[in-house]
Amino acid sequence: MGFSYDELHIPVMAEEVLKLLNPRSGGIYVDCTLGAGGHAERILEASKPDGLLIGIDMDESALKVAGERLKRFGERVKLIHANFAELDRILDELEIGEVDGVLMDLGVSWMQLSDPERGFSFQVDGPLDMRMDRRNPVTAMKVVNELSEEELRRIIREYGEERYAGRIARKIVSMREIAPITTTGQLARVIESAVPPKARRGRIHPATRTFQAIRIYVNRELENLERGLKSAIERLRPGGRICVISFHSLEDRIVKRTLKSSPELKVLTKKPLRPSEEEIKRNPRSRSAKLRAAEATSTDSGGGKEVGG
Ligand SMILES: C[S@@+](CC[C@H](N)C(=O)[O-])C[C@H]1O[C@@H](n2cnc3c(N)ncnc32)[C@H](O)[C@@H]1O
Repeated sequence: MGFSYDELHIPVMAEEVLKLLNPRSGGIYVDCTLGAGGHAERILEASKPDGLLIGIDMDESALKVAGERLKRFGERVKLIHANFAELDRILDELEIGEVDGVLMDLGVSWMQLSDPERGFSFQVDGPLDMRMDRRNPVTAMKVVNELSEEELRRIIREYGEERYAGRIARKIVSMREIAPITTTGQLARVIESAVPPKARRGRIHPATRTFQAIRIYVNRELENLERGLKSAIERLRPGGRICVISFHSLEDRIVKRTLKSSPELKVLTKKPLRPSEEEIKRNPRSRSAKLRAAEATSTDSGGGKEVGG
């Protein structure tokens, strides 16, 4: 039928990731954000015939798709439904001490974004959800209808870097007093009506930043990133590498700071790598991607998590 998995999500900066991660046979690699399995498939190909890939995603539906795609690699793939913040526990349970490479390709996948039922997007109307992990009790609907105006303002300002956070929070609270805000389309219209007219004519839709903020809050994205990075760095064997692709400045700041300040790492990307013009043309969603990578140098971390007290 000509179906390609990359239609579900085109892996971003795949060539650059492969170059930096440099997968080899016999290596153990962790893809912390499996998604549709695009990067994972390439890592498995490059580490033939016996590289092992641990694929983690907190979205069960991603694991289903990736599981199907990666079936042909058999025992070389282990799929884990979990938050990568739990990387330590995950590797302990698999009785794996150290790994050769870790990849994080942050944010949401096209599969998640384009499915109205998941409620991530204001482009397609759907219930306000935004949970990557559907076991999470906190939905966007709860956030929008139950948090105080002050909390909303803080979240929208901090996680959305939105200059009109105050107006937007106020409008949300006044509208929800009339009737609960239940869909992504409704919320987008409320936001649009809260910002001044000039902000409605900008390059990006006026709801973009607020949607980003609520998504980050619902999924605790920044806390997870901090925890996940810390464990990943501890688990790299000397010479092992970590690659992180981020899509907005809040994430990138954390990645940059963490890689730079880890004494056991040598940063491989002085400046973050960006997708080529050609890639952006082919896949406009890659536009804001930044790729940073580092290599574990110190033999102090040689024993994985047991060492280093
Ligand atoms: C941008 S997509 C990854 C796409 C993938 N690299 C590919 O080539 O298809 C990000 C994925 O990471 C997952 N994710 C985001 N944060 C996560 C976390 N803290 N723990 C586990 N999975 C996470 C999302 O559910 C989503 O499926």
